[in-house]
Amino acid sequence: MDEMHRYTDETEALSRAIVAYARSRIASAQPLDGSATGEELSRRAGETVIAEGIGGEEALRVWSEVLAPATISTDHPSSMAFVPGAPTKAAVLFDLVVGASSTIAAGWIDGAGAIWAENQALRWLADLAGFPAGAGGVFVSGGSAGNLSALVAARANAAVRLGGRPATGWKIAVAESVHSSVATAARVIDVGIVEVPGDERGRLTGDALAATLNALDPDEAASVFAVVASAGATNAGTVDDLAGIADVCEKREIWFHVDAAYGGAGLVAPSVRERFRGIERADSFIVDPHKWLFAPYDCCALVYRDPTAAHGVFRQEAGYLETVNQPGVAWSEWNPADYAYHLSRRARGLPLWFSLATYGTDAYRDGVEHVLTLTRATADEIRARDELELVMDPELSVVLFRRLGWADADYETWWRGLLDAQIAFVQPTSWRGEKLARLCFVNPLTTIDHVRAVLDAMTT
Ligand SMILES: Cc1ncc(COP(=O)(O)O)c(C=O)c1O
Repeated sequence: MDEMHRYTDETEALSRAIVAYARSRIASAQPLDGSATGEELSRRAGETVIAEGIGGEEALRVWSEVLAPATISTDHPSSMAFVPGAPTKAAVLFDLVVGASSTIAAGWIDGAGAIWAENQALRWLADLAGFPAGAGGVFVSGGSAGNLSALVAARANAAVRLGGRPATGWKIAVAESVHSSVATAARVIDVGIVEVPGDERGRLTGDALAATLNALDPDEAASVFAVVASAGATNAGTVDDLAGIADVCEKREIWFHVDAAYGGAGLVAPSVRERFRGIERADSFIVDPHKWLFAPYDCCALVYRDPTAAHGVFRQEAGYLETVNQPGVAWSEWNPADYAYHLSRRARGLPLWFSLATYGTDAYRDGVEHVLTLTRATADEIRARDELELVMDPELSVVLFRRLGWADADYETWWRGLLDAQIAFVQPTSWRGEKLARLCFVNPLTTIDHVRAVLDAMTT
């Protein structure tokens, strides 16, 4: 009975095949690959979920020959679209261990070892941001989940402070630099948005925030329970005026959340660390290690200066959880489930922890600096080409530029041509109503030659 759960000769053969596949995936250069329609995939893969199964060997063949080629490898050195990823070898390998370990990292009672290690990685990030010893948090699936959870904690904190919900309804304040996930989070939790005019690069500044709040009716201003700043805006890679925003938030007792999902890696890099001045005064921040801190998907670190508000709103109470929640006992030391909207959770911070432990934090500093150096070299290369024009000097590792004389359709032709030729995966973007070229770097293996191939395709 139940051959699925026994380690049989077939399982042994499948183990070898899977490990060999995973090994070849990380040992050798991978193609960029592409996409396919659902109809094409159905035709080529055939029926895969059937009563008697197709067998592991065949399922692996379908994955490697049909399905994997219909995905783009974000860790390819020429993957420069959106925000790519570039996990270290040790992080990827340890992800296999996490999957094999059946550890539920929701509560200390059965996840202590995994949670201790995750907390080491969180502490490293908290220290980089300059957060105090009492700071703490949890790894959630991504920046969207991190922003949502931070805002829920912020609102709970304000409700306690104000003694309930304001008559005008809750609001958050943001600028043009804010990530789209924050608007979604606001819809999910039914709060309004106060839009603050950005500076010439779209950044949120303390002065503009103060002016906007001062211009509001006092009741409405009091309903603003959180400000979300970006430390690494996704579209332009800019960093908001964190210190100026902190001044305003402190004065008005508003929760200050920093979305450093993409840019937080810069905290480790001496050449840009100063741009983050003020983050140490935030109430919460997020960083996605699956973006520029070399971890596999999915992984967002959510850190609170004082985790009490989050604990108050997220803790789940149930008869079967009474032992888990018992205060002051060894087995309830730190329950990650209490710090975001979730209960069961994969110990998704472990690949980052294992990689940090393997290579050391200096290697992270060097990896991030390497990417910043490449970004500056890319900006120089663009300045040197007559047909290209930088939109702004890069602050982190995003480069926005225009191809003089191009219409919108030319940018579409550009990215499609590069992908069809398997040269690179890039995407245009829109910035203040104009279609532009955008490159985002996170991979230390990307070289200026990879970039030149992308730029050369704009001259022909
Ligand atoms: C600044 C920022 N915040 C939030 C997000 C959302 O993160 P995720 O895709 O991990 O949910 C992103 C994604 O690119 C981002 O760049």
